[in-house]
Amino acid sequence: MRLLVAPLLLAWVAGATAAVPVVPWRVPCPPQCACQIRPWYTPRSSYREATTVDCNDLFLTAVPPALPAGTQTLLLQSNSIVRVDQSELGYLANLTELDLSQNSFSDARDCDFHALPQLLSLHLEENQLTRLEDHSFAGLASLQELYLNHNQLYRIAPRAFSGLSNLLRLHLNSNLLRAIDSRWFEMLPNLEILMIGGNKVDAILDMNFRPLANLRSLVLAGMNLREISDYALEGLQSLESLSFYDNQLARVPRRALEQVPGLKFLDLNKNPLQRVGPGDFANMLHLKELGQDPLSVHLLTWLCP
Ligand SMILES: *[C@@H]1O[C@H](CO)[C@@H](O)[C@H](O)[C@H]1NC(C)=O
Repeated sequence: MRLLVAPLLLAWVAGATAAVPVVPWRVPCPPQCACQIRPWYTPRSSYREATTVDCNDLFLTAVPPALPAGTQTLLLQSNSIVRVDQSELGYLANLTELDLSQNSFSDARDCDFHALPQLLSLHLEENQLTRLEDHSFAGLASLQELYLNHNQLYRIAPRAFSGLSNLLRLHLNSNLLRAIDSRWFEMLPNLEILMIGGNKVDAILDMNFRPLANLRSLVLAGMNLREISDYALEGLQSLESLSFYDNQLARVPRRALEQVPGLKFLDLNKNPLQRVGPGDFANMLHLKELGQDPLSVHLLTWLCP
């Protein structure tokens, strides 16, 4: 077995950055694009094979016409597309993943997807989106994964995410948000992962995340946070992993942490923590890891003598 595994592993490593194992998908394919059947993992990590149209990096200014009707994954990363109409995608009844990252969208209203009922994963990261209006993603009832990171979002309307009741992961990191609005999350009862670091938010309000009873991982890294109010984490009853990496916290937000007793991973690295008092991590019976820097190692020793 070992003899067999080693070459396979080598082949996998060699191929990891280039082509994954694929087979041709014999359909009329848009010029310059590749039509293939590729391995695909759902946002819940189950393995599938997906009929894939790969039109990445082609200087396209619009979605190519007459895509194969059975397309499940459509890759349009790194082009110059500024708008998409429902008529350009609506006929792809089985579309499960759409990658429009690294394009030129500046207005979310130019992304008109009012009915892609099978879509699980939508990539809009690295565009120039500045605001999201209410109901921006209406019609994407199955969506599980939404990538909006690395845009210039400074305003998100309270009901922007309405209809996304199946969303599991939301990536809003590296935008220009000044505040986090708990009304966004009322639309997202099943969210498990929220990445919202790298925004210029300097305070988290009480109950800010309260609707997110199923959230397991929250990343609040790189946000200028100076203080965490006592009830900021209230309602996060499933939270297992929390990152405050690279903020301005001068003390461990002890009372806030008491609201998340199931926490297993906490990252307080790159904060000007002045002192850690006895009881700062009291009641955190499940805490397994506190980060990697000397302070954290010290804390761990101190917690688990
Ligand atoms: C969509 O998927 C269903 C179920 O797998 C399949 O029967 C149908 O033929 C597909 N539609 C197209 C246009 O390929």
